[in-house]
Amino acid sequence: MRKIKVGIIGCGTIGTEIAKACKDRMRNTVNLVGICDACEEKELLLRKILKSKVLILKLDDIIKKVDLIVEAASAKMSGAILKKAINNKKDILIMSIGGILGHENLLKKAAKIGIKVYLPSGAICGIDGLKSASIGKIDSVTLTTRKHPSGLTGAPYLKKNDIDIWGIRKDTVIFDGNAMDAIKGFPQNVNVCALLSLAGLGAKNTRVKVVTSPAYTKNIHEVEIKGEFGHLMTKTENVPSKTNPKTSQLAVFSAIAALEGAAKTVKIGT
Ligand SMILES: NC(=O)c1ccc[n+]([C@@H]2O[C@H](COP(=O)([O-])OP(=O)(O)OC[C@H]3O[C@@H](n4cnc5c(N)ncnc54)[C@H](O)[C@@H]3O)[C@@H](O)[C@H]2O)c1
Repeated sequence: MRKIKVGIIGCGTIGTEIAKACKDRMRNTVNLVGICDACEEKELLLRKILKSKVLILKLDDIIKKVDLIVEAASAKMSGAILKKAINNKKDILIMSIGGILGHENLLKKAAKIGIKVYLPSGAICGIDGLKSASIGKIDSVTLTTRKHPSGLTGAPYLKKNDIDIWGIRKDTVIFDGNAMDAIKGFPQNVNVCALLSLAGLGAKNTRVKVVTSPAYTKNIHEVEIKGEFGHLMTKTENVPSKTNPKTSQLAVFSAIAALEGAAKTVKIGT
């Protein structure tokens, strides 16, 4: 089988681990052609980590050279990168799923021209159940995310509402609203609610609660779905990644598993 030519946009926590997996566990199915980051130091560091001569390319060049683009950069960019993937008829795996909310028409365009768009499960469990449940009627989808203040710092919602996250001493709900507002307020923290929205009731009808406490040592995501099928609850206690406390280790693994899945003919799970 021909190897899939892959290019990675974003050489941070997720991009680095995907690149390492391309060179290691996926070496027989994937050919890492190029990497790209807004920060040159990150590109050079990743090339050093990989101990390889992988090409450092500009965004438009990387898209032209690959079969599959991996976006692991920023919600500000993911919509624009999906647009470029569509225009160049290239498959794409998107990690900054929040950037797709409000641009769902792009997913329809992608389907129309026949490119594959991979949206990994990230740090939550229950997407399989939600996909199955959505064959029938769904009444509600709720995500409760619990993170240590270090996993939420810098979120625009905190600044806008003058919330002193480091002054919080016990379990405190700092946001309770819909997924559209959650993504605007916490673009780097609750990508999982974007995925739940796309798989379920849409961003305006998906409820999100963000809770913080200095006592939390894990990034916890609780998913609750009610519908014709019954009642589903999942709780995932995620270890934050060592290099970015906003990103859970399971999200990193999920990106690698999704890329591996792209090369597999047997698809397990819904
Ligand atoms: N889907 C999920 O469940 C999930 C989970 C965790 C993180 N994420 C998202 O995935 C993305 C990557 O996460 P991470 O932990 O690797 O973040 P990170 O901050 O460690 O790395 C992001 C990298 O992207 C680069 N970058 C930013 N803007 C760029 C641009 N316009 N062009 C090229 N490079 C750019 C940065 O310089 C940085 O090196 C983030 O958007 C994050 O919110 C998604």
